[in-house]
Amino acid sequence: MPAERTVQISGSTVIVRPNAEAASRVAADSIAEIVESAVKARGKAVLGLATGATPEVVYANLAARHRAGGLSFQKVVTYNLDEYYPIQPIDPLSYRSYMHRHLFSRVDLPANQAHVLDGTVPEAFVREHTAEFDRWIEADGGLDLQLLGIGRNGHIGFNEPAEWSVAEAVAAPTRLVELHPVTRADAVREFGDAAKVIPRALTMGVKQILSARAIVMLATGPRKASIVAQALRGPVTTAVPASLLQTVADRVVWILDEPAAAELGS
Ligand code: GLP
Repeated sequence: MPAERTVQISGSTVIVRPNAEAASRVAADSIAEIVESAVKARGKAVLGLATGATPEVVYANLAARHRAGGLSFQKVVTYNLDEYYPIQPIDPLSYRSYMHRHLFSRVDLPANQAHVLDGTVPEAFVREHTAEFDRWIEADGGLDLQLLGIGRNGHIGFNEPAEWSVAEAVAAPTRLVELHPVTRADAVREFGDAAKVIPRALTMGVKQILSARAIVMLATGPRKASIVAQALRGPVTTAVPASLLQTVADRVVWILDEPAAAELGS
């Protein structure tokens, strides 16, 4: 199979590149394009952003474009997918810190246009906070683009595999969730010790994710090959949250490196 290819699978466009670097460049290209076209069309671009190891190269790429003078974030508004709960924003393990390190401090995005769910909200006010987050996105006219990564268990944001119906899952709002054992095991990488992993998080709901006008899913590396194949080729099931993307397939572009595409078949 050619190392560079674009195919249609279950109604979505799937772009495969030989390595993570090249795949990340395609993702950065689509983000830059959407920022430019949305700013031109309606004066601003609203981006949903992801964390994790996968998008780090994408953010480095966007920051480089900004430094080179071609890409401005002055008219960009961002909403991050998720945040641990509870956590202080200043904690180096918070997704607020991650975003600061990888993107916010490196581009001209006005601070008051960057939204990350607040891991310090007292529990009694969490519902109010998450409902407000969804209202902000709506008031901003919805997401022009949602960037996603995929967990090894198929999670998107921190929407974890769960025993509920597809109808319930696709209507799920932004909310407080318990992390799945696979997610907690993978988070040991960041937290250094299983006992230190924060077991709960705030996550954007599947409803907001699926409402984005464009969805870019980036997955790289051999550890993602099996779940990518299940999400793209398998049934739409809440056991694999990323398979819910099939319900809005024509708005979804999967960008994969060759190792992550290895189990897709031809
Ligand atoms: C993390 C994030 C997700 C991310 C996923 C994959 O826990 N909450 O938004 O997409 O898990 O992470 P990685 O890119 O490090 O594999």
